[in-house]
Amino acid sequence: MSAPITVCVTGAAGQIGYSLLFRLAAGDCFGPDQPVKLRLLEIPPGMKALAGVVMELVDCGFPLLHGVEISDDAFVGFEGVNAAFLVGARPRTKDMNRADLLTANGPIFTTQGRAIAARAASDVRVLVVGNPCNTNAYIAQQSAPGVPANRFHGMTRLDENRAKGQLASRAGVTPGAVTRVGIWGNHSDTMFPDYRHALINGRPATEFADEAWFQGEFLKTVATRGKAIIEARGASSAASAAAAAIDHMGAWHHGTAQGDFTSMAFPAPADNGYGVPEGLVFSFPVTVSGGNVSIVPGLLHDDFARARLAATQAELEAERTTVGSLLTAG
Ligand code: NAD
Ligand code: LMR
Repeated sequence: MSAPITVCVTGAAGQIGYSLLFRLAAGDCFGPDQPVKLRLLEIPPGMKALAGVVMELVDCGFPLLHGVEISDDAFVGFEGVNAAFLVGARPRTKDMNRADLLTANGPIFTTQGRAIAARAASDVRVLVVGNPCNTNAYIAQQSAPGVPANRFHGMTRLDENRAKGQLASRAGVTPGAVTRVGIWGNHSDTMFPDYRHALINGRPATEFADEAWFQGEFLKTVATRGKAIIEARGASSAASAAAAAIDHMGAWHHGTAQGDFTSMAFPAPADNGYGVPEGLVFSFPVTVSGGNVSIVPGLLHDDFARARLAATQAELEAERTTVGSLLTAG
C-alpha cells in the first residue's frame, strides 16, 4: 500500500458530492491500492448536512479511507492537498444557460485559487466541475500564481461520456466499444463532440450513421443533455457528473489506454497546434502518460468542424472578457 493521498472535494454536501465521495473512498478513482484522506469543504449553511455525509462515509467501513476532515475555510480545506475537485457552486435552473452562472459562481474560484496557491501540495491537480467550468477553471488558475497553469482543468468528460452513450446506442454496441471521442471547446451548447475521429469496435463511427444524423440529432443531444436532464429530474445531473469526475481524475492519475484518447479542458499552451489562443481554458482530445497531458496532434477538421470550433472559441473568449473585472478587482 502507498502512503495516503489527500483529496479535497468542495461542495461536498451537494448532489454531486453525495455520489463522488463514496466512489473516491471506495478506490474507484486512484485505484484499489491507494489510500485516501478526504478533506471536505462547504459553506457554513452546508456544514450540518456535511456532518451527516461524514457519518455515512464512516458507516461504509471503506478500507482505503484513512480519515475525513471537514471545514468551511478554503485555507484549511486545501492544506497539503494533492487532488482537488472543485464542485461547490450553484447549479443552473431550467431557464438559464451555464454562462448565466458566471456572476454567481465566479467569485468562489478567486478565493479557492488563492487558497490552493497558498496551501496545496506542490503536485496538486485541480478539476473544476462547478459551472461554467471552463471559465471557473480559468479564474482559479489566474488566482493561483506559482501553481503551473496546466494543473487546472475543467471537466468535459461528461460530454465525452454522453457522446459515447449516443454512439453506442446508434451502433447497437456497449459504450466500451466506442473510443477516441474528443470534445473540443466549452462545456456548453457550443461544444464540438468530434464524431469524425471516433471509432466503434475499431471502425470509423461515421460508418454507422449518415452525416445528417451526426450534425443534427447526435450533436444536439450531446450539447443539450444537461438541460434535458434538468427538465426531466428538476435538478442537474449528479451521479453521471460524479462518474465523469472520477473518469477525468482517474485518467490524469493512471494515464489513457494505448491508442485511445480522452477530453480535458485546460489553459491552451502557446503551441497547441489548433490555433486556440494561449491561456484560454479549452477542451482538447488528449492522451495522458506518467501524469503528463498531451494534446492529440494533427486531427483534421472539415468546414463544419472548423465553424463549430470557431464558435466555441468565441464563446470562451467572451466569457474570459466578462470575468476580467473579477480578476483585476481581486
Ligand atoms: P448542489 O447545489 O447540490 O451542491 C453544491 C454545493 O456547493 C452546496 O452544498 C453548496 O452549499 C456548496 N457550495 C457553494 N458555494 C461553496 C463554496 N464557496 N465552497 C464550498 N462549497 C460551496 O449542486 P450540484 O448538483 O452538486 O452541482 C454543483 C456544480 O456542478 C454546479 O455548478 C453544476 O452546474 C455543476 N455541474 C457541472 C457539470 C460538468 O459536467 N462540468 C455537471 C453537472 C453539474
Ligand atoms: C450538465 O452538463 O449536466 C451540467 O453542466 C449541468 C448543466 O447545467 O447542464
